[in-house]
Amino acid sequence: MINTTVNLGGIKMKNPVATASGTFGFGLEYQQFIQLEKLGAIIVKGTTPAPRQGNPPPRIAETPAGMLNAIGLQNPGVNKVAGEIIPRLVHLNTPVIINIAGDTVEDYALVANKLDGVPGVAGLEINISCPNVKKGGIQFGSDPRSAAEVTRAVKAATKLPVIVKLSPNVTDLVAMAAAVAEAGADALSMINTLLGMAIDVDRRKPVLGNITGGLSGPAVRPVAVRAVWQVYRAVKLPILGMGGIMTTRDALEFILAGATAVAVGTANFVNPRATIEIIEGIENYLREQGFNNINQLTGLAHAGI
Ligand SMILES: Cc1cc2nc3c(=O)[nH]c(=O)nc-3n(C[C@H](O)[C@H](O)[C@H](O)COP(=O)(O)O)c2cc1C
Repeated sequence: MINTTVNLGGIKMKNPVATASGTFGFGLEYQQFIQLEKLGAIIVKGTTPAPRQGNPPPRIAETPAGMLNAIGLQNPGVNKVAGEIIPRLVHLNTPVIINIAGDTVEDYALVANKLDGVPGVAGLEINISCPNVKKGGIQFGSDPRSAAEVTRAVKAATKLPVIVKLSPNVTDLVAMAAAVAEAGADALSMINTLLGMAIDVDRRKPVLGNITGGLSGPAVRPVAVRAVWQVYRAVKLPILGMGGIMTTRDALEFILAGATAVAVGTANFVNPRATIEIIEGIENYLREQGFNNINQLTGLAHAGI
């Protein structure tokens, strides 16, 4: 028997593979491709107090090894998410984690409070790392004190486990992780996208309507693995690792660097079955390499270093 269950800060997952926020809609969109029950967790699109239209198009652009996006947190708002969307996911035997965002600390606390006790919500992921909105997002995610303040406010507003999602667009990611750990986060997720841009040389204009966007996909993976490695050594919280995971071996890199679980994002656009293939691939790896518990792998690459 191989044990693939993990505990991500109080969220029990049957295997270590989740979907990354914003790349999997609210889950239901992918039902025609995969059995949602097979996933370790579903992390849904960023949810804000009021509905948001997002940024002007174009909002995505392909890059040599990934993509740029500047969606700008388009979502139907927390009332619709709690009242209409989550009830359609409640029957699933898979934890649903709601990614939350806002313009102010009060916004985050309000969304957290509205989701507290809603049947079917297993936890919250605080997005303090969105590079594509004018207010909120990265503004909180680039200053340890602001990040701690948002974390404390959300923790006070809910009994749900709280994961704080960190940005790579900072000088000292470990300081950010330490600050939110101190403020009561139950787990950390990393990384959100890297700030980037592209220019259309025929139009001689930026490609994206928002001018800048967030880079994701295989191009960012070494940055993300490094982030997990450094934070694992410094902070004693479970880590949800993500950034460019396309295959089983990519996911294993994150786990060996210190991630308790991983999330798959951009890969879903290329291969909607990527999560399932990675779940099966991890099980095969454990069996072939003689491990009987996935938790034996977390942080294993640090041994002797
Ligand atoms: C189109 C798109 C939308 C995203 N929306 C969100 C979001 O709403 N909230 C969030 O925290 N991260 C969002 N992200 C970031 C991803 O969850 C993930 O952190 C990032 O893309 C790195 O993983 P990947 O390379 O596997 O995609 C989005 C990414 C993409 C590509």
